[in-house]
Amino acid sequence: MIEVKNVSFSYNGEEAVKNVSFSMSNEFIAIMGPNGAGKSTLIKLIMGLLKPDSGEIKVFNMPPEKAKDIIGYMPQRETIAKHFPIRVKDIVLMGLNKKFYSRKDIEKAKEALEKVGLEKLWNERFDSLSQGQQQRVLFARALAREPKVIILDEPFNAVDLPSREKMIEILADERKQGKDILIVVHNINPILHEIDKVLLMNRKLIAYGEPREIINNENLKEAYGTDVQIIVCKEGYCHPLVGDTHA
Ligand SMILES: Nc1ncnc2c1ncn2[C@@H]1O[C@H](COP(=O)(O)OP(=O)(O)OP(=O)(O)O)[C@@H](O)[C@H]1O
Ligand SMILES: [Mg+2]
Repeated sequence: MIEVKNVSFSYNGEEAVKNVSFSMSNEFIAIMGPNGAGKSTLIKLIMGLLKPDSGEIKVFNMPPEKAKDIIGYMPQRETIAKHFPIRVKDIVLMGLNKKFYSRKDIEKAKEALEKVGLEKLWNERFDSLSQGQQQRVLFARALAREPKVIILDEPFNAVDLPSREKMIEILADERKQGKDILIVVHNINPILHEIDKVLLMNRKLIAYGEPREIINNENLKEAYGTDVQIIVCKEGYCHPLVGDTHA
């Protein structure tokens, strides 16, 4: 359960998140918006990595800094040190947020890596992996502690199609188990049928609701500034043509 009430945040006087309010409970939500729309900033506020200038955030009725243990987080790839001599197992174990690891913790971490199909890479150096493999290891790290809330910032970047499908399958499964899932994506189409709602933002919140209600030309134009072509509408779902990769 996440509640965001009238939250604003500025970096050096420039407002990145403007008076955003939404709440979610047992849902799978996708955050969409152009580059610089404040998506990662909003996520960092929910994670308690940044403090709102105004407004309030509650995660399971706790302030974000008290909720860290119940959130599994996967940051946007750019923020990960790419040439740090660390092994895959250490990255996944990091997800458990402990100083010392029991045998059970190691089992949990191994299971998470197995979920994403990379158990063979347990002992490998993280920087020797392909970008897509690194993304999947970071996904395993987010799952390792069996969190109540899963927050992922552009998890599918550089991930190949079969691996993406696998990740979506895992998320759909977590969703069924009653987890809260919040995910930032540029291309919503691969997950359109799995998500409950879309949050469309460009610094301010533009629309929040079921995909079939809010994915329309008017809202997309407001968010992206130019006409976003809607490829096809089928069975009530409209698929927008929005960048597959980072611009
Ligand atoms: N650490 C920072 N210091 C100063 N400005 C920042 C910082 N991080 C982000 N910004 C600015 O805040 C705005 C929102 O950035 P943010 O990273 O939240 O956008 P985003 O929606 O995640 O974009 P992208 O799709 O490129 O990941 C941008 O204008 C960005 O330049
Ligand atoms: Mg971002």
